[in-house]
Amino acid sequence: MLMDSSFFLTIVAAAFAIGFFIFLRKLRIHQENEDVGSSSTSPPSSLASSTSPPSTLSSSTSHPSSSTSPPSSLSCTGTHHVFPSFRGDDVRRNFLSHIQKEFRRKGITPFIDNEIRRGESIGPELIKAIRESKIAIVLLSRNYASSKWCLEELVEIMKCKKEFGLTVFAIFYEVDPSHVKKLTGEFGAVFQKTCKGRTKENIMRWRQAFEEVATIAGYDSRNWENEAAMIEEIAIEISKRLINSSPFSGFEGLIGMKAHIEKMKQLLCLDSTDERRTVGISGPSGIGKSTIARVLHNQISDGFQMSVFMKFKPSYTRPICSDDHDVKLQLEQQFLAQLINQEDIKIHQLGTAQNFVMGKKVLIVLDGVDQLVQLLAMPKAVCLGPGSRIIITTQDQQLLKAFQIKHIYNVDFPPDHEALQIFCIHAFGHDSPDDGFEKLATKVTRLAGNLPLGLRVMGSHFRGMSKEDWKGELPRLRIRLDGEIGSILKFSYDVLDDEDKDLFLHIACFFNDEGIDHTFEDTLRHKFSNVQRGLQVLVQRSLISEDLTQPMHNLLVQLGREIVRNQSVYEPGKRQFLVDGKEICEVLTSHTGSESVIGINFEVYWSMDELNISDRVFEGMSNLQFFRFDENSYGRLHLPQGLNYLPPKLRILHWDYYPMTSLPSKFNLKFLVKIILKHSELEKLWEGIQVSIYHSFMKFILF
Ligand SMILES: *[C@@H]1O[C@H](CO)[C@@H](O)[C@H](O)[C@H]1NC(C)=O
Ligand SMILES: *[C@@H]1O[C@H](CO)[C@@H](O)[C@H](O)[C@H]1NC(C)=O
Repeated sequence: MLMDSSFFLTIVAAAFAIGFFIFLRKLRIHQENEDVGSSSTSPPSSLASSTSPPSTLSSSTSHPSSSTSPPSSLSCTGTHHVFPSFRGDDVRRNFLSHIQKEFRRKGITPFIDNEIRRGESIGPELIKAIRESKIAIVLLSRNYASSKWCLEELVEIMKCKKEFGLTVFAIFYEVDPSHVKKLTGEFGAVFQKTCKGRTKENIMRWRQAFEEVATIAGYDSRNWENEAAMIEEIAIEISKRLINSSPFSGFEGLIGMKAHIEKMKQLLCLDSTDERRTVGISGPSGIGKSTIARVLHNQISDGFQMSVFMKFKPSYTRPICSDDHDVKLQLEQQFLAQLINQEDIKIHQLGTAQNFVMGKKVLIVLDGVDQLVQLLAMPKAVCLGPGSRIIITTQDQQLLKAFQIKHIYNVDFPPDHEALQIFCIHAFGHDSPDDGFEKLATKVTRLAGNLPLGLRVMGSHFRGMSKEDWKGELPRLRIRLDGEIGSILKFSYDVLDDEDKDLFLHIACFFNDEGIDHTFEDTLRHKFSNVQRGLQVLVQRSLISEDLTQPMHNLLVQLGREIVRNQSVYEPGKRQFLVDGKEICEVLTSHTGSESVIGINFEVYWSMDELNISDRVFEGMSNLQFFRFDENSYGRLHLPQGLNYLPPKLRILHWDYYPMTSLPSKFNLKFLVKIILKHSELEKLWEGIQVSIYHSFMKFILF
């Protein structure tokens, strides 16, 4: 059930005033990323509630009417998501303008050409724009083939699809796909006209591009009753793809990618259509395994009946018992949720996921596997249909061995010249050094080692610096960097100013798991002078990615957590954030939490015993602002005496399976920005009357 948020707040307010009970169980409010101010924007499709628009940093300048864009698209870098290729005369005034409006509403940024389409052949700007896009849309309309421009664009787009796995959407706008494929009918006639006086070679290239684009499963406008529904569907599909797309920025992902993909394709043996095959990708953290898997998935998934890219959350140091029934159920649930793109799926029986894909030709990518149980919980290869492929990325070779995977691609460090290219992309914005910087760039690249993550972070550090600054930095780097990735990341952290450091730690310890959504700024406004600027600094320094659903690389998360741990190694209750499950249990049971603690991020570990905590458990932690108790906590935490006290400065209360039927009556809501109590026992918010201040941006999820 999806409800208008203001309506909900009204009910809540009214109920408070008369001190009534509201039965909130089963009532579900999901206003994530919805623009609270505009009441008419409630997405009619059921999918829309589970596919929140991509919270990606996007340029506010590229869509001037940004008042309609969701508040989560924070302005930052100038990248676009989608490259549209179209024949202006056919579609600019109608279809294109509608789809662009829908894009803005969903926070998708299209490329706007600003009149760079001039001259005979397509220029480097346009090629760059295509390559930097995550998705290209080819809008095939009646006169598309009348423009040599469009033809060349199409050739380039299809080339990027082949070489780099660019996702391409074909929209047949009032044209017959078979006419496009065979270049017949009216569409063909227009094409013939354009071909007059052109070389055979060009005509061949164009023909081939049309043949290829017509084989992509596209949208045929003639099959839709109305344009609005089709546009909505396309925009939803694009948001889904963007959410799942990799955060690497265009060009960098391409360096060395062709070679990786070729090797992987050999191992995958896609031509062998009777076989089912599993291929591992292994290598150290930060080398680009996920990127390779992502590009591959984009390239080959069209050839399968179903495909899924399943990203596992790192378990850091927590070992997971490999035959825990609950764990497997949870993992299967996540798998199904990803497969059919729907949140909050509940299953009750092991093997449900397997039944779902049984006998089908599927592509399964399991990214970031670090526990055997993750593999054990997934559908077995033998049950999949012929031609299915499973790709597993992991740092842990032993896991692949234990699972008897024979085909393994070990990702090597990039060779020196590629390392220099990666560094340069971040330092100069292109893949070779600026004039006069050749020697300096080579020196620094050598110090930074060959791990792509380190090169990215180091390159970003030098961005925009003068030659003198570069020279000034060198001695410091020589002392500080020992070739290990840890020292490079720490260096980059140390040069941040205090406020940015603090923001980094907030993200590493709490918000990387919680996600950065439209409430982020309001949540941290009291503490940071300019939250947006802080985020921009971290993006520019490559310490977080633009993909704000899970912005930080595992190694950086670990760095942040270690820094916080070092604040007080032996007394966890004196740290700023608590993140380790065991330590949190200890602090909660021994009442050693102090005023230093501002955040608790409790990811329940599987071997955890059931825990009884007292009604005054939070009393020592009067400065607690962020509390997150994740969805695995079912049945593991008990409050036998109830709960008497919640800290007054609480801003985020996220407690899945909250075990009580109400919140403490003395709970101060003044600072609360987000309250999420999924699967709770809640029957009413609290006893008696609560008078409080409401924020229009407050986010509720209770059911
Ligand atoms: C944490 O403290 C240990 C021991 O003093 C030190 O070796 C390590 O480098 C510190 N870690 C960080 C990230 O500062
Ligand atoms: C928790 O409390 C319940 C009831 O008060 C009791 O039966 C149970 O043994 C306690 N569990 C632990 C681990 O102390």
